[in-house]
Amino acid sequence: MKNNILVIGSGAREHAIVRALDRSTQEKAIYCLASNMNPGIAELCTDFTVGNINDPEIVVSFAKETDATLAIVGPENPLAQGVADALWGAGVKTIGPKKDLAQLETSKAFTRNLLKAYNIPGGPKYQTFDTLDGVAEFLNVLGENYVVKYDGLAGGKGVKVAGDHLHTHDEALAYCQELVDSGGEFVIEEKFVGEEFSLMSFCDGDNLKHMPAVQDHKRAYEGDTGPNTGGMGTYSDANHGLPFLNDDDIAEAHAINIATAKALKDNFGEGYKGILYGGFMATANGVKLIEYNARFGDPEAMNVLPLLDSDFIEVCNGVTDGTLNNVEVKFRHKATVCKYAVPEGYPDSPTKGEPIDVSKVKNLDGLFYASVDIQNGQLVEAGSRTVAVVGMAETISDAEKITEKEVSAVSGPLFHRKDIGTDDVVKKRVDHMNSLR
Ligand code: AMP
Ligand code: GLY
Repeated sequence: MKNNILVIGSGAREHAIVRALDRSTQEKAIYCLASNMNPGIAELCTDFTVGNINDPEIVVSFAKETDATLAIVGPENPLAQGVADALWGAGVKTIGPKKDLAQLETSKAFTRNLLKAYNIPGGPKYQTFDTLDGVAEFLNVLGENYVVKYDGLAGGKGVKVAGDHLHTHDEALAYCQELVDSGGEFVIEEKFVGEEFSLMSFCDGDNLKHMPAVQDHKRAYEGDTGPNTGGMGTYSDANHGLPFLNDDDIAEAHAINIATAKALKDNFGEGYKGILYGGFMATANGVKLIEYNARFGDPEAMNVLPLLDSDFIEVCNGVTDGTLNNVEVKFRHKATVCKYAVPEGYPDSPTKGEPIDVSKVKNLDGLFYASVDIQNGQLVEAGSRTVAVVGMAETISDAEKITEKEVSAVSGPLFHRKDIGTDDVVKKRVDHMNSLR
């Protein structure tokens, strides 16, 4: 049977998804419903249409037009709007959870409550609020180790961490007041100290197959300074672990993902079909769960999908059909480093509409388009993370050198973090972890 595959979204993550689909030897046609022009995706698709990816009706009507048999939802917003529910309703098998199950990402309180109810390890002390009642008392319980999280999707901007964004209980109370005034619920939780990593698993409702661990860098500037971003770059190691993690850490993260999938099925009577992306922190007291996302990470997808040795369409069918246990999911044993080139001024006041030139990049397979546009035949920045570059080698150190050379060859009013994946920075992570254990 021919696979008609619909990809929803048009960033670098979706470019990585489309490339992985394109590598499959199965008979297929790929379609993309996009939020912006992505020349890398467009050249691999039978049809590339720009439209409102967050409107379930528009998505379903595009799925019908293209006779889609399988859909892959890239970003979280369509999941929050019930796009997966609508697609399943129209008979399209979908990678990405239905709206209720996507609460794992869209509601921080939901996730904390679920893990607590099912005694899943890795959770912090926490309380949920929708007024200031009890906030000062709970802050006193946590002392200087607290995090305040807006309980909804906020593009990474709703989380404020003590010592980082909040310096006194008065500042924390003022932020909570802001959240109350805007009618939002929020969570206050214990702050963990350690090293963060992402561990994504394919999940078919019952069975999980895990991907290599990845470390993201959320801060805009070198040395992990500056404002939070969607992620400036990532690395993964040839052994599918990370230099600062041991086998037990990876096993604990796997176990938390497995237990969470089971809890979701028990709670909703229906399994989670999609990517279960645990954002973890390795601490002196074991692996802790920072958050869940209900989709591939961006940039993490650009690290792991190019390593996938198995047929991606087979893996996707395993996820949607509940037969993942019968599918081999193998990743190559190579290290990867991904760096984003982003507009000058990103994330607060990015330049926009300025031409960029990628013609000096040597390995086009390692180049992923993100927030770009074509104006008068010219590739321009569209204001968010612009292009990602991935290098692959036997070691993180060698992969970093490849990536750095290639990302520096992208010209335009852009910047990137030179430090991601360098020996110095990786050593700092290892030393930090060793100092804690
Ligand atoms: P989130 O959106 O929940 O991933 O939070 C964004 C960032 O805030 C995370 O990547 C962490 O760096 C930080 N963070 C969130 N929760 C905690 C926590 N409980 N302890 C320490 N850092 C946290
Ligand atoms: N890499 C962070 C995210 O995808 O949310």
